[in-house]
Amino acid sequence: METLKNHPTIAETTTFLKTDKITVRYGNTVALQDVTLYIPANRVTVLIGPSGCGKSTTLRCLNALVKPLSGHIEYHDLPTQALGETDLRRSMGYAIQSVGLMPHMTVEENVDLVPKLLGWRKNSRTERVSRLLKLVRMDPDVYRNKYPDELSGGEAQRVGVARALGADPPVLLMDEPFGAVDPLTREQLQNEFIRIQRQLKKTVVFVTHDIDEAVRLADYLVIMKDGIIVQADSPEHILANPADTFVERFLGPDRSLKRLTLFTADRCMDKAISVHDSDGKENHNDDTSCCHWVVDKNGCPVSGRAWIQGKFVERQINSDTHTVQTYSSLKECMSSILSLGLTAAPVVDDDGRLCGEVRFETIQRISIS
Ligand SMILES: Nc1ncnc2c1ncn2[C@@H]1O[C@H](COP(=O)(O)OP(=O)(O)OP(=O)(O)O)[C@@H](O)[C@H]1O
Ligand SMILES: [Mg+2]
Repeated sequence: METLKNHPTIAETTTFLKTDKITVRYGNTVALQDVTLYIPANRVTVLIGPSGCGKSTTLRCLNALVKPLSGHIEYHDLPTQALGETDLRRSMGYAIQSVGLMPHMTVEENVDLVPKLLGWRKNSRTERVSRLLKLVRMDPDVYRNKYPDELSGGEAQRVGVARALGADPPVLLMDEPFGAVDPLTREQLQNEFIRIQRQLKKTVVFVTHDIDEAVRLADYLVIMKDGIIVQADSPEHILANPADTFVERFLGPDRSLKRLTLFTADRCMDKAISVHDSDGKENHNDDTSCCHWVVDKNGCPVSGRAWIQGKFVERQINSDTHTVQTYSSLKECMSSILSLGLTAAPVVDDDGRLCGEVRFETIQRISIS
């Protein structure tokens, strides 16, 4: 069982993008002041900080949409000035909540935008759109010809991510890509993002306002305030050692609970024991930390059984909040354990089949480690 998420230190990973003492001013407003930022390759760097602290400006500088007054930016060891702006932008997918999708274009046309500009062949483009839509869990046959105003907020954001991935860019810039959706959809989008990133291993720079989202998704977390970087490190390190009272306040009082969002269920789960409805409590082994899960003919859990404080209990699984997915965080697992009232949370695969359990004692061990 693998329990610890390995966060890179900058020394361990190759820097892909670097800003070197960049300063940006808009009139009298200093948007960025001498910002030096190393962005590790194939990892997720998350920028977070109060409104107006310079997060979007940093992304715009990386994409050469804004030119710093002083300092410079290096892309893969090359100064960005050495690359053409068009080449630079094409190597970076940009997902922005506020700009959104082109309203007069279908989902297919939106996702196909950059590959078409790049002159890719029509056949391979059609195939690619299908692949990208499937990647963000949208059925191409259902969504290909829809217009953005026929999509829910969460679906539109998935298409935004598919569009950013369109031309398979090595770098993804994402400015609050999951803003403005309800917490449940947001959590699902985060799960999708974790799944996609484990497959594609892009160099991602992700902006968010949401500290839970930041801690959950970041390999490298950058906390900004008033145009400067206050602290940049792995989320674990920042949660354990906030640099000052600003960071401490920003992280909030529930730092130990936040630590639970660092871990996904699949990396902390144990094997689940599935049983038949007819198996009685006498068949339940005496390990009180694990549960027995009654599954239906498809392998989907319908109830869970456990010995709790000397009593044998059985609970029905009849709500989405009772089960967790492989990419759910340990915080969600804790919530499932509490709502079910058992000693473990059942983990299900994409088809709802039981594939493991996350035990309360595992969560407890990780939270104090
Ligand atoms: N085009 C512009 N013209 C003038 N001032 C600007 C412009 N863009 C940004 N600013 C200012 O620069 C500062 C940094 O803005 P930026 O958009 O980078 O903040 P942010 O951290 O992304 O904020 P938010 O979380 O609200 O999106 C702010 O004070 C903002 O008002
Ligand atoms: Mg912004």
